[in-house]
Amino acid sequence: MKLIQVNHYEEMSKKAADIITHYIKNHPNAVLGFATGSTPSGLYENLIEDHRKNGTSYKAVRSFNLDEYVGLDGTHPQSYRYFMDEHLFNHIDILKENTYVLNGKAENLDMECKRYERMIQEAGGINIQILGIGRNGHIAFNEPGTPFSSRTHIVELAESTRKANARFFQSIDEVPTHSITMGIASIMESQKILLLASGPSKAEPIRRLFTEPISESFPASILKQHPNVVIIADKEALKDTD
Ligand code: F6R
Repeated sequence: MKLIQVNHYEEMSKKAADIITHYIKNHPNAVLGFATGSTPSGLYENLIEDHRKNGTSYKAVRSFNLDEYVGLDGTHPQSYRYFMDEHLFNHIDILKENTYVLNGKAENLDMECKRYERMIQEAGGINIQILGIGRNGHIAFNEPGTPFSSRTHIVELAESTRKANARFFQSIDEVPTHSITMGIASIMESQKILLLASGPSKAEPIRRLFTEPISESFPASILKQHPNVVIIADKEALKDTD
């Protein structure tokens, strides 16, 4: 794992955007893996700004998102489809039909998982996958205890994750109990993984990532086995790491 240390959130976001735009310039047909949440929002702002200023084009880019809540469709403001449209897709020239987000309202969720895996394969795999990290070390919605061999699957969200995400809903009761997520094995097949971490709430998982052995009780630990992981973390996220 390569670590890029930055001072703050803005610098993390800019660095991540530079890596992505540089890649797209050289690979206009890139397949990108996106995440939602607080962590990548600044990255997406930078991609939009770069698109406006420098004209980086996403016309031939395809994207796959990590996860989606079960039960929310794309019109729900807390759905991850809505998040991606609002925070990125509506502001760049990517074709909507080339942006894939799991359908949390699919009639048959198991089939939806299989369909998603197939689409990633058909796209030739993900070139760069963006990841955030949960306080308990989750990646995507793969909570502690998820098998490293997992493919796209349905998960029951940990209470701590529902609490952490309740800030986006009116109350915790509105936070869905399940999500549909790319599996750990699916994520590990990405060519390159860009893990972003900012702020004091990420100090603990980042410390654990660097110090603890690889174990399914700490999902992010598997990243140590990936040949091309870049972590961009700010001072606060690195404060407990020597
Ligand atoms: C979101 C996702 C989650 C988040 C993680 C951190 O698509 O997959 O694993 O990356 O929960 O969330 P934030 O960035 O809000 O701290």
